[in-house]
Amino acid sequence: MSPNKNITQPKAQKSSQKIEEHRIHRTHIKAHSRQDSSNPLQGRIPQTVSLKTARGRTTAQQRWLVRQLNDPYVHAAHQQGWRSRAAFKLIELDNRFHFIRKGIKAVDLGAAPGSWTQVLLQRGVKHVVGIDLLPVKPLLGARILEGDFTEPDMPERLKKLLGGKAELVLSDMAPHTTGHASTDHLRIIALAEEAFCFACDVLAEGGGFIAKVFQGGTEQALLNELKKTFTQICHAKPPASRKNSSEMYVIATGFRS
Ligand SMILES: C[S@@+](CC[C@H](N)C(=O)[O-])C[C@H]1O[C@@H](n2cnc3c(N)ncnc32)[C@H](O)[C@@H]1O
Repeated sequence: MSPNKNITQPKAQKSSQKIEEHRIHRTHIKAHSRQDSSNPLQGRIPQTVSLKTARGRTTAQQRWLVRQLNDPYVHAAHQQGWRSRAAFKLIELDNRFHFIRKGIKAVDLGAAPGSWTQVLLQRGVKHVVGIDLLPVKPLLGARILEGDFTEPDMPERLKKLLGGKAELVLSDMAPHTTGHASTDHLRIIALAEEAFCFACDVLAEGGGFIAKVFQGGTEQALLNELKKTFTQICHAKPPASRKNSSEMYVIATGFRS
């Protein structure tokens, strides 16, 4: 379950140093789940830990840190060399729906810091292009386009890099939140719609579109369009997606151009 050896990987040692820094005593207990390759946590979950000292952190920072330190996916991501815990969401989705196939061309929208791109490479995708507003540290075997995927020339730039249309478009994008619930909701819908339009532009016949959506599934208007454009649509919330988050994923396969 570890990513491509050629990929820049954080060292397991680094994470243990970090834990040491925070003077935290961490022990492990065996998870009750079976230990097999389809279990990203590989049967180990960390026991609850707490901070011994605030060290000048605000309450919100402390809460975030405690959540990170108690998150088995964060720990497993460090150990297995994934750039973020988000890797496990894609691993779990693909273990269930099998949309990543060896040798295909794929695009990862909202790629930073790069863990979904790592998963694509590790699962044998031949041509991978990641697009993000933020810089992504190089990953051997992947091309990165830094910029807004909605820029008018992006589909053409992408197809040029891929050497044709893609068989898979992934979107784990999330807009910057304002804290104003209805504005944020509109932004999320708009981003998912833009990603769908982009996918229609760059997907090859029969291709797949996997995108993060919120609020109990895809908005009706987008869902209607997806149903017209793909032969199969499912929604799923992978176990790695935090329970208190309203995010989930739409898995649309069998693109009809
Ligand atoms: C949750 S992160 C993605 C994490 C990534 N899947 C991983 O596994 O490392 C969401 C990303 O979407 C990017 N994003 C949001 N809007 C974008 C846009 N219009 N164009 C490109 N990237 C965008 C953000 O910059 C952010 O890095």
